[in-house]
Amino acid sequence: MYQSTIAGIGYYVPKNVYTNNDLTRFMDTSDEWIQERTGIKERRYADRLEETTTGMGVEAAKIAIERANTTAQDIDFIIFATLSPDYYFPGCAVLLQREMGMKEIGALDVRNQCSGFIYALSIADQFIKTGMYKNILVVGAEKQSFAIDYATRSRNVSVIFGDGAGAVVMQPTTEPGKGILSTHLHSDGAEAEKLALYYPGASAGKWLDKKPTLPEQELGGLFMTKEMLEDGSIFPHMDGQAVFKKAVVKFPEVIHEALSANNLLTTDIDLLVPHQANLRISQFIQKNLGLRDDQVFNNIEKYGNTTAASIPIALSEAWEQGKVKKGDLICLAAFGAGFTWGAALIRW
Ligand code: ACO
Repeated sequence: MYQSTIAGIGYYVPKNVYTNNDLTRFMDTSDEWIQERTGIKERRYADRLEETTTGMGVEAAKIAIERANTTAQDIDFIIFATLSPDYYFPGCAVLLQREMGMKEIGALDVRNQCSGFIYALSIADQFIKTGMYKNILVVGAEKQSFAIDYATRSRNVSVIFGDGAGAVVMQPTTEPGKGILSTHLHSDGAEAEKLALYYPGASAGKWLDKKPTLPEQELGGLFMTKEMLEDGSIFPHMDGQAVFKKAVVKFPEVIHEALSANNLLTTDIDLLVPHQANLRISQFIQKNLGLRDDQVFNNIEKYGNTTAASIPIALSEAWEQGKVKKGDLICLAAFGAGFTWGAALIRW
């Protein structure tokens, strides 16, 4: 069995900066409310027409591939995590394969929202460990700005999210003790509707208290109704307090699980890179685990919550700032819609 390692990493964020004050042009909110509850000062929004989720993923991938001293032609598998794909189907991985002129390799989309990158990393790890692939591109990218409701009714959700992309190239290593030590994945669908975008979808309201009115025709017509457009159910819905309560339990739980699987302690962590959900959640985890400020990386103030892109963007920035060094123990952890959560321990 091989060990897998991150051989190259990169990120891309769009140039359009929207501060909290900019959002007050669209909805009733304030810089003070947003900063106090989330720690976010500004976020990036992709160009409305020119930039796509795939396109941002491509930009991040180019950097990761170059830093891994490889080429797009040598990538032998693509895993793309996103909740904001360019199309309902097909997924972004094939679009990236096309845009980067890659060979006719396997291309997989992962739909695990905020924990999508950890799930994707874990899949890549298994493929490399078994020797099936040797150069896997893992991308997390989001263009959430296109599907956010900028009206006051959705302000608890819309102020949180931003756009961007991060990517890593995973390769095998024979260096003892180096690379991904383990990954740990979990889910609990009991509260799936607490953080969700219901429509367009095939449930037709089966699980929802408020069902859409059936259109007059005998078949179909429920993919997107006028009513869904008007009442905002085509936009993300979040019960913020339910998310918060579960996240602050599951984050520390899965981090402890990962550490104990490797006979390690919280004091062994050189850097925790949590999914950038909300600064208050990250501060809660830090306190719960008894970590110092220099053991936790946060950049949510600049980018907001970029969902599947948040961990690779944060890890990439931390690496560029010299906060991720050879031999360091890096812990990645995420929690998000589903609910799904996970952690990965990496010896850099
Ligand atoms: N600006 C101003 N006021 C707002 C805003 C806003 N953007 N959003 C909500 N409010 C108001 C509400 O209308 C409400 O007003 P009311 O008391 O007059 O009715 C009041 O603030 C409190 O609303 P809540 O929704 O109860 O706000 P809460 O204190 O729970 O804070 C928040 C909302 C920040 C989302 C919080 O619940 C939270 O941190 N949850 C965690 C969820 C999270 O981090 N999600 C990230 C995505 S999921 C993930 O990545 C894990």
